[in-house]
Amino acid sequence: MRNDQPAPDEEPLIGDGVTPDIVRVADTVRRPVRPFTATIQAYLAHLHQAGFSAAPRPLGFDEQGREVLSFVPGEVPREPLPPEATGDEVLIALARLIRRLHDAAQGWTPPQDAVWATPPGTAGIPFVDTGAELVSHRDYCPGNVVFRNGLPAALIDFDLARPTTRIYDIANALYWWAPLAHPKDRTPALTDADIPHRAAVFADAYEMTHQQRHELVPLATRMIQRFHRTSRAAAALDPVFRRFWEEGVKDRLPRAEAWLAHEGPAIADRLTATTPDRKP
Ligand SMILES: Nc1ncnc2c1ncn2[C@@H]1O[C@H](COP(=O)(O)OP(=O)(O)OP(=O)(O)O)[C@@H](O)[C@H]1O
Ligand SMILES: [Mg+2]
Repeated sequence: MRNDQPAPDEEPLIGDGVTPDIVRVADTVRRPVRPFTATIQAYLAHLHQAGFSAAPRPLGFDEQGREVLSFVPGEVPREPLPPEATGDEVLIALARLIRRLHDAAQGWTPPQDAVWATPPGTAGIPFVDTGAELVSHRDYCPGNVVFRNGLPAALIDFDLARPTTRIYDIANALYWWAPLAHPKDRTPALTDADIPHRAAVFADAYEMTHQQRHELVPLATRMIQRFHRTSRAAAALDPVFRRFWEEGVKDRLPRAEAWLAHEGPAIADRLTATTPDRKP
């Protein structure tokens, strides 16, 4: 049952509004159970067993049947990114964090009955991250990155985790954090940013391979095209996604596509020019 008033010891946690009824209770977070919750809890348990502690710890279910996770202390930024979250050192810390996540996730086999999230209206839209190498987060929007001491320190909200590729996950992080967006859609501190430089800073910190550096721009292009399709489909069915669409997604995504078509070669050149492992 959904309560209109949270209990006195429950502090509502409001993200971008995709998931209702998330609350903090002391040093835990309670979230509604969805079909994929048990799969994600198994994944989070694996990450901790593998030594990756920069994610919520899965703590089972409470007396109301809600999912229980550890509360991850720190600050969570929101769009538009504050200027202090736009430096190269933030990209470096995020890239290293995602690299550690990938290395911990590598080798985990999801349970046979694994269930993954399907955002509204998107079931028939093909994924672009085929050829799965691992299960990873896939949704590095600012609201899902916890900062401590001014740097990304942990990841939350693994709702969109599923089998994917390292390069897809990297493309998703760069979409939000380079960002791969038209200048008018960036936070003001990044309007004139050198995006090829920022992508290369991330690539070096992640230690992207030569092949990953070549794959990034074509994959990011397909990812943004898919975002456009999935966002339109979700907006037709769900009021929260409809609000995102009307408030700007419907213009931002085609602008990002056009910008990347123009700027992609410069990003690819910069990424491959600095490849540490490139063959002579
Ligand atoms: N385990 C956690 N530790 C600390 N804070 C959390 C945790 N889970 C959620 N939060 C806080 O609650 C907010 C909303 O949670 P979450 O991101 O899971 O929901 P959401 O509705 O999917 O949000 P969004 O659409 O913004 O991603 C987060 O942005 C964060 O501020
Ligand atoms: Mg979130």
